[in-house]
Amino acid sequence: MLTDFVKAWNQGQNVDLYEKENDAIDHERTLWRALEAAAPWEGKGLLDLGCGTGYWLPHYASTTSRLYGVEPDMTLLEAANNRTPQAEVLSGSAEHIPLDDSCVDVVHARFAYFFPSPTNDCSAGVAEVLRVLRPGGSLVVIDNDQEQGDFANLLRTSNAADYQGPGDFILQWWQQQGATTREVMSSWTFTSAEDLLEVVGMEFPQGTAQPWLRAHSERTKLSYGYLLHTLRKPTC
Ligand SMILES: C[S@@+](CC[C@H](N)C(=O)[O-])C[C@H]1O[C@@H](n2cnc3c(N)ncnc32)[C@H](O)[C@@H]1O
Repeated sequence: MLTDFVKAWNQGQNVDLYEKENDAIDHERTLWRALEAAAPWEGKGLLDLGCGTGYWLPHYASTTSRLYGVEPDMTLLEAANNRTPQAEVLSGSAEHIPLDDSCVDVVHARFAYFFPSPTNDCSAGVAEVLRVLRPGGSLVVIDNDQEQGDFANLLRTSNAADYQGPGDFILQWWQQQGATTREVMSSWTFTSAEDLLEVVGMEFPQGTAQPWLRAHSERTKLSYGYLLHTLRKPTC
């Protein structure tokens, strides 16, 4: 039993709208280039941990030597299975990864499991990721920057710390694990203002984004700051 599984409030409830969110992410590819710089995966084995519907799996498929997706939500897992034949998609979670010791070079966790807070200790997931990483391999966690960009403004005016954890705590927690953190500025770019409205409404339920949305009603784009927390497994 996957005791650490928590159903995603966004993708877990609304698969189609989360697909639109993923479609909007990082058209300028600054995030993608920062991920490649943090831990290159060309010719290597990569695990997308908490891969959801597997949206990002095809993006890795042409350059990795082995590609895995691990996902605890059975509905999302089924969708991920159909995303690309190059990926092996497995039922599991951050604390229960169904892979051998030292078998992958890079683990990405994109808004999955790693939400450390004073009441949510994620160190069991770190230990499990370090088990499956080869010596010298890296975990890269894609997280929200709570300070920079339009999305950070939205986080500040909503109840972000309630469900995401306080920003200072998160930074210190990753430092204590031995990770380095890099800021990356990118955007969400939608094809229409209606799509932006719908996706922001999903991420900020109970109308907490309404003042921002009213002030930016024609927008199809918002700036989005990411934090990449990178933890390298020592070589000896
Ligand atoms: C916000 S969604 C992101 C999905 C995907 N990474 C993406 O960017 O499209 C969070 C994902 O984490 C998964 N998840 C929940 N609990 C988890 C756990 N303990 N370990 C790994 N993934 C988990 C959810 O089922 C969901 O697929």
